[in-house]
Amino acid sequence: MCGIVGYVGGDNALDIVLNGLKNLEYRGYDSSGVAYFNKNNLVFKKSVGEIKNLQQKLEKTNLKKTVVLGHTRWATHGENNLKNAHPHCDKNKEVMLVHNGIIENYIKLKNELKNVNFLSQTDTEVVAQILGREISFFDDKKVVLNKFLKVLKKLKGSYAFAVLFKQFDDKIFFAKQKSPLIIGVGQNFNFVASDISAFLKHTKKVINLEDGDYGYISKKEIKIFNNGKEISRKTAIVADNFDEINIGKHSSFMEKEISEGGYAIKNTLLHLKNLDFSKLKKVIKGCDKIFVTACGTALHAGMIFKYILETKCKIDVILDCASEFRYKNFLVTKKSLCIFISQSGETADTLSCVLYAKKKKAFCVAITNVLSSRITKMVDFVVPTFAGIEVSVASTKAYLAQLCALYYLIYVFCDVLKLKKPFSVEDIFALSKILNNFCQDKNLLKIIPNFINNKSLFFVGRGQDYLLALEGALKLKEISYIHCEAFAGGELKHGSLSLIDEKSYVFSLITQKKLADKMLSNIVEMKSRGAKIILFSQFKNLKDNATYFIPLKKVKESLMPFIAIKPLQELALLCTKQKGLNPDKPRNLAKSVTVE
Ligand code: G6P
Repeated sequence: MCGIVGYVGGDNALDIVLNGLKNLEYRGYDSSGVAYFNKNNLVFKKSVGEIKNLQQKLEKTNLKKTVVLGHTRWATHGENNLKNAHPHCDKNKEVMLVHNGIIENYIKLKNELKNVNFLSQTDTEVVAQILGREISFFDDKKVVLNKFLKVLKKLKGSYAFAVLFKQFDDKIFFAKQKSPLIIGVGQNFNFVASDISAFLKHTKKVINLEDGDYGYISKKEIKIFNNGKEISRKTAIVADNFDEINIGKHSSFMEKEISEGGYAIKNTLLHLKNLDFSKLKKVIKGCDKIFVTACGTALHAGMIFKYILETKCKIDVILDCASEFRYKNFLVTKKSLCIFISQSGETADTLSCVLYAKKKKAFCVAITNVLSSRITKMVDFVVPTFAGIEVSVASTKAYLAQLCALYYLIYVFCDVLKLKKPFSVEDIFALSKILNNFCQDKNLLKIIPNFINNKSLFFVGRGQDYLLALEGALKLKEISYIHCEAFAGGELKHGSLSLIDEKSYVFSLITQKKLADKMLSNIVEMKSRGAKIILFSQFKNLKDNATYFIPLKKVKESLMPFIAIKPLQELALLCTKQKGLNPDKPRNLAKSVTVE
């Protein structure tokens, strides 16, 4: 994974690249580094941890540079340390390279390189060393491009590269295969980057590179080649807005993003109301099977979609997480409708499922928050969400926007198939007013010290509440590092109940009347073993069954997932804050996982 950005332009290149890297930190923040020319030599500076550490290192030098490339790392090959941080170079320091992706045949290539003392454990360094061996300082541009292509052809796996060659102090070379890479087009400057957030402040003009593309940028030139031939690619203007990346008055992006849940729903709905669904409607009428796949939080949104479509509309949905889906060889056919949910539109596991479904000639639909993402170019129909840029690794407002888009789809399904609609568009719209702001339930705050040091916490629910429990547990574990597990209420007695004792805290949900009695029995079972029950429900009469009761605003039952998830998101954030951790950047994770 990782994020890369390269800039050629004015003499504030270092600042520009550092700021670009900060906006790419969602792709990984294990370490970071930059490379640039110092007099006629290539040099790099690296640092472990967040970009601010690198920035501090560079502050002392106050360098004016016009060509800089930078990298923020999510460790794959080699532990997280300074040596493995990018950029990597060849033994003579004539090539400096940053990489996003995985070179699958790097061990074989490494073994072929004789007399090279490798400084890191990375696959990336192998490429830098090969380039250094193949390309001489005296090679001209044409020769370098040919040799570059020759080396690229040896590589198996995925890569987005940005490269500096010592003999070209006005150019950044690049190459793309299966990892995202785009060019930001400016006047007297150009960028190459993993995505637009790296340069949105400077330009909204973008060239989306395709697999096999390579070339170089200089201040005034963009040269793209594919398989030895120079080609031209269209320049597009992106609609994304830079202002949204501000943290404002909030103490974390996660806090800000939870408070924007209502806007995410409202904006998504306003756009979807004007979207022409006729192409999709035709497919819905004739499709044989519906498949849904996604990862992480997006998968949990997909689970709610499946639940409502199956229980309210009696339409079967086949769902699995993308990393499993791809290798199960599901019977996807040209009559299938495949729905892919991805906030970023870049998740490698999800994209590989799109490729699989495309091969089977299925009709592919993407629900994504990033209109310029790769998934939008791969599918037959895009249902955009408009949550705004989500910075925090833990997805919150994007989950609500995904639910909103999925509920809208359910509405479209009902419309086409002439089924009774379980809710109206106005009902969803009304949620947007309830869900703005950060509500911070006072009761929630009070009880956190009671369980913050527990080794494990449990989330339990039935029906849609089980699916919410899964998301609540994921949110809390990913940012607080407390082990959290979600159970379906009825499953407890089949094994998990043995974990419950008088120290256990169980977050229980009851949002569906028909399942309330059954869930209450499960609560009694847990209470009898001494567990403390924190119950989230709109049914106030259930209060006495709980140790602590968190009331929920009452809306139509099928819409309760929108309401119930909010205190669970807040719970995760508040626990993390109490533990003194940064909720926006949990260890070992990244916002966008672009490796399989
Ligand atoms: C990562 C993130 C999660 C996210 C998942 C899917 O694991 O940490 O927050 O839910 O990827 O991301 P996507 O962009 O495809 O929705």
